[in-house]
Amino acid sequence: MKRLLLFLCATFVLVSCQGNVGRKLAAGGSQDSARAANFDKTYPIVDSLLRVMTLDEKIGQLVLYTSDWDVTGPSIRDGYVDDIRAGRCGNIFNAYTAEYTRKLQEIAVNETRLGIPLLFGYDVIHGFRTIFPINLGISASWDPELIQESARIAAREAAAAGLHWTYSPMCDISVEPRWGRISEGAGEDAFLGSAISRAMVYGYQGSDLEDPMTIAACVKHFAAYGAPQAGRDYNTVDMSERWLREFYLPPYKAAVDAGAQTVMASFNELDGIPATANAHLLTEILRDEWGFDGFVVSDYTGIMEMINHGTSLDLKDASVQALKAGNDMDMQSGGYSEHLKKAVEEGLVSQKTIDEAVRRVLTVKARLGLFDDPYRYCDPEREKAETMTAENLATAKKLAEESCVLLKNDNDCLPLAKGGRVAVIGPLAESADDLLGSWRGAGQVEGVKNIKEAIADYATVVYAKGCELSGSDRSGFAQAVAAARGANAVVMVLGESCDWSGEAASRTSIRLPEIQTELLKAIVNTGKPVTLVLLNGRPLDISEESGLASSILEAWFPGTMGAEAVASLLFGDASPSGRLSVTFPRNIGQVPIYHYAKMTGRPYVHPGAKFESRYLDCENEPLYPFGYGLTYTTFSYSKPTLSATEFGPKGSLSATVTVTNTGARPGTETVQMYIRDLVGSVTRPVRQLKGFERVSLAPGESRQVSFEITPELISFWRRDLTFGPEAGDFQLFIGADAACNDPVTFSYTDR
Ligand code: BGC
Repeated sequence: MKRLLLFLCATFVLVSCQGNVGRKLAAGGSQDSARAANFDKTYPIVDSLLRVMTLDEKIGQLVLYTSDWDVTGPSIRDGYVDDIRAGRCGNIFNAYTAEYTRKLQEIAVNETRLGIPLLFGYDVIHGFRTIFPINLGISASWDPELIQESARIAAREAAAAGLHWTYSPMCDISVEPRWGRISEGAGEDAFLGSAISRAMVYGYQGSDLEDPMTIAACVKHFAAYGAPQAGRDYNTVDMSERWLREFYLPPYKAAVDAGAQTVMASFNELDGIPATANAHLLTEILRDEWGFDGFVVSDYTGIMEMINHGTSLDLKDASVQALKAGNDMDMQSGGYSEHLKKAVEEGLVSQKTIDEAVRRVLTVKARLGLFDDPYRYCDPEREKAETMTAENLATAKKLAEESCVLLKNDNDCLPLAKGGRVAVIGPLAESADDLLGSWRGAGQVEGVKNIKEAIADYATVVYAKGCELSGSDRSGFAQAVAAARGANAVVMVLGESCDWSGEAASRTSIRLPEIQTELLKAIVNTGKPVTLVLLNGRPLDISEESGLASSILEAWFPGTMGAEAVASLLFGDASPSGRLSVTFPRNIGQVPIYHYAKMTGRPYVHPGAKFESRYLDCENEPLYPFGYGLTYTTFSYSKPTLSATEFGPKGSLSATVTVTNTGARPGTETVQMYIRDLVGSVTRPVRQLKGFERVSLAPGESRQVSFEITPELISFWRRDLTFGPEAGDFQLFIGADAACNDPVTFSYTDR
């Protein structure tokens, strides 16, 4: 076959053996060592290829087309196969299974002039075949180690199915519950979001991308996609550079620092320029400031959409703008394949710009080891062995348990006694499908238990649906009321359908549909204690429901093992430990509401005062603050102590609290540290999360928890837009959520 490629590969293998291979990193290792893997190696094959590639072949490496999935299995449009064969398409997404990807890979390797392997991408967002909770749920675990493990499992399953590249982590901070894609992110906070995006990159990529069990990560959607005006998907985003840098960019940067190989440009505009062709984002910040050396891919038809944005005349113009701004690969617009050659001939784009983009793409392929063995990911035996193993399912259950947040538990109504008679009521109790959420990879509903079935493993179940998710049909109410009357306890499973969140699923109401609230009222009126299990993909306004139910367990969409996890929490085999990663408002009028708000010149401090920053018809405080969550025991905190009250540029100090389990059951607390910078050259948030740690304590047990405060930790984007700390006084809070109080004070001096 390809004598040329064989020769090039031989050269590459020889040289790469002298490279910096084999440095392994234990899971959870430090950021620096994770990056040290094979990313600093040079790949002579890339230069060798660039020297012999035609312009058409180069442009082909910048083209990404989708595959399809028919009832009979994976399929691809005829034209795309011709494009692969002719070297006009070097990358495919949405194609998987070891067998099918091998078929396509064989075309690229055996039938194109240079035999350059295809790169296969897919949206592995919260699992591939074993589906973990949706990402907003995962983030409520505040457990980066377990999240890293879930990404590692997702990578192994995906890699075994022929995939090289996932479009994850999604690092979009959002304070916008109307936006359906808030379900795909890590919530409102940059510090927690950074810990999670870093963990996901480590999980997917491991310490060595050449390991065929790992896949390349893609940081998306760059940038600020989570702040669409009015919460409508794809809508305009506009914010100051300072706000962008302080509250939105850190999770993307953390993922890049962790070694993420690719970045996806977002659909939205920012400061009037679509992100797809935003050189400030894609080149100045990403490459020049952060040193990113992988490739940037557009989002789906993002290049074409610049015509609708009104910043490009036509697809050719859009393609030229995107490439020049730093967008290396075109997902599905067909702009690069149709227009780049002409653009080069006309001098609109230089050969050098094309070569740089191609080099980045080929380097990622080399880092994945595809030039060593293009079929290393296409092994049907491995696919069988890796998929949905008992270990994978056990981790999915554990993460689902950790993701659920106990919002209310009056009179210790939970856990329920095992072996009783439980009325299970509500339109979501019998749905296995909804448990998987949106972006469920290759997850399948077959074999997934629903919540009613999982509860039946603990108690005698009397089931009544009661009503549909929405509408006005009350004909099922009577049966549901009768079921409640005849039971010792009631579990109602209410919320949203899984397709009410995710992409293109924005809502103007964040309440439960009226019919569900009415059903809840009817059941509460029976006098039975009602536990409300919520399935949903966004923070909801549950002000009314929280006054009705005795206990509330927020379960998000908890994944393949979600029902088992919910049941084990309800009956006390596990204890809830999730904490909200996003503030729950009292109503939609409070949105956006988040814990790192500014003081304003007129903070509301005098009850009833008119000319202070407040609402006439609602309090300022949310229904449930960021960081909030209960469990089956209680914890007490000592006042924090500081190792010193002052530190300078070369120093640090530590803050320590003693946390005690004051209840009768073991439990896990997430200890949170918040800091407030009292005076700055620009206004500072009333508090910001700056540290957290999960601690598991037996009844009566105490543990000291310490956090280190460094100059880096208190740094921010100062008035001149440089990043650093400023001398002055700070308040430090340690407690169970963002509403914790009783701060201690320290100072930072610049001497
Ligand atoms: C989404 C991306 C996704 C891409 C590929 C787009 O519509 O915005 O998040 O990765 O499709 O499926």
